[in-house]
Amino acid sequence: MTGNGTLRSGAWFDGDDEVALANRAALAPAARGARGPVIGIANSASDLNPCNMPLRKLAGAVARGVREAGGIPAEFPTISLGEDLMKPSAMLYRNLLAIEIEEMIRSHPLDGIVLLASCDKTVPGAVMGAASADIPTVLVTGGARAPAVFRGRRIGTGTDLWRLWDERRTGDLDDAGWRDLEVCLGAGIGSCNTMGTASSMAILCEALGLMIPGSSTIPAGDPRGTDAAAEAGRCAVAAVRDGTRPSQIMTAAAFRNAIRVLYAIGGSTNAVIHLTAMAGRVGEAFDLNDLERYGSGVPVLADVEPSGAGLIQDFDAAGGLPALLRELSPLLEPAARTVAGPTIGEVIAAAPAVRSGGAIRPLNSADAGGAFAVVRGSLAPDGAVIKTSAATPDLLRHRGPAVVFRGYEDMRRRVEDPALEVTPDSVLVLGGCGPVGAGMPEWGMIPIPAKLAAAGVRDMVRVTDARMSGTSFGTVFLHVAPEAAVGGPLALVRDGDMISVDAAAGVLDLDVGADELARRRAAWSAPTSPHLRGWPALYRAHVTQAPDGCDLDFLTAPTAAHRRFVEPVVGRS
Ligand code: FES
Repeated sequence: MTGNGTLRSGAWFDGDDEVALANRAALAPAARGARGPVIGIANSASDLNPCNMPLRKLAGAVARGVREAGGIPAEFPTISLGEDLMKPSAMLYRNLLAIEIEEMIRSHPLDGIVLLASCDKTVPGAVMGAASADIPTVLVTGGARAPAVFRGRRIGTGTDLWRLWDERRTGDLDDAGWRDLEVCLGAGIGSCNTMGTASSMAILCEALGLMIPGSSTIPAGDPRGTDAAAEAGRCAVAAVRDGTRPSQIMTAAAFRNAIRVLYAIGGSTNAVIHLTAMAGRVGEAFDLNDLERYGSGVPVLADVEPSGAGLIQDFDAAGGLPALLRELSPLLEPAARTVAGPTIGEVIAAAPAVRSGGAIRPLNSADAGGAFAVVRGSLAPDGAVIKTSAATPDLLRHRGPAVVFRGYEDMRRRVEDPALEVTPDSVLVLGGCGPVGAGMPEWGMIPIPAKLAAAGVRDMVRVTDARMSGTSFGTVFLHVAPEAAVGGPLALVRDGDMISVDAAAGVLDLDVGADELARRRAAWSAPTSPHLRGWPALYRAHVTQAPDGCDLDFLTAPTAAHRRFVEPVVGRS
């Protein structure tokens, strides 16, 4: 209910003039004679995005739940950001989805909303939009796809494909095997079943209090998912009646808990960017310092690929997030609220104990090494991130000569060149792939150069302003800021320059003298993109750097003007 006791949708429907009558008539087919809060069901299901296909069935369950609670369900489609088919990167369109959700809420008689999202960017994009609109919000995800079985072995989405690609490049996987792999990977729908970005974001949104407790890791097609979706519909109506808004759920304490959970699950590095952007939408400052402050010392409890050996199905079977929260409870802030009603402390009190032998380690038996490191230095003045839990420990402190790739095409071509001058001690550098340069695709897991891969090398130090898939692994220093395209030091590195990394000490340095760097900077000019138009042009002009969440600069932190903007202005269309 709004502050004066009426529903937001009342601005459309209350009254006796021709506008109110036309508005009531327009909603009548969806309302089917019911009166009550109107709950939007923003559905990102799409044939172009297999990760989100399970949402089709769940939308009906959400609608049923809304009706059972006395609300009116109103489903509408949204763009669907599928990580595989969308080029150059679904990341380029995350903020567009956020704008779409915010504008659909602003322009329609919605009192609350249920977001149906799964694949990596659909979750943060949808949440960012709803957070900006700040109407009661519940998130439903579609669940991880069933594990594929390749030559008798269960394989995880993404992570095992990257490993098998290395076998293919070195000739260890033949043509028949490569064809078999394609068939088995194309067999399922649902999100990646490793601890990729989709699983990470679903779990983090549950930790933030935006989902039905226990629902973020229910596998695709599991009947529990249908029950949770119906519960989400009921919950959305209750949240409208209680006046529970995202700004009351997505608090500083909730984000601090989310950071701890991110470390505990060994989650995706992409989640660092998304959490920052989501926090920005509710006016909560969140930066790389917070990541270190609240995450360091939190052990990795989830034994899930790529940091561990299991899959999301194993994590769910071990008790899912409630069980992990219970294990992590000494480190959490219990007063944080959830949209479903209970506080995080109450969720923990009702949670099952971790099932032994599963994919969640007890707190007292876990290695306190931590999942991430934030590094800074002359090569990354504003910071960079590495997922240490998926890296090679011996490479986390290293000094070696740079082998520089200027953009993705250059990298793909030269990395296969047997004449490339590179040794296992080299540091592979890829610039031009940040948010301004290329929309920040997941190009950061630079393949091991072919001649080294053939010799058995499986990891090297890599440094880039790109992202990498949450399902990826290796000693990759990501999200270097400022990025090369805006003149960050990454743009000035040349082959043979010495680069020093030390994850534990938080160091990423380019060992080149200040005079030489000044000469290179004077000769540098920003790359131009004359052919950009439409959304990519707007994005490039306004996107912020990775440590600021890659949001558009005019969409962050709510202001008084923003609040007036999302209040309805209703008249003849
Ligand atoms: Fe969509 Fe992984 S590619 S969830």
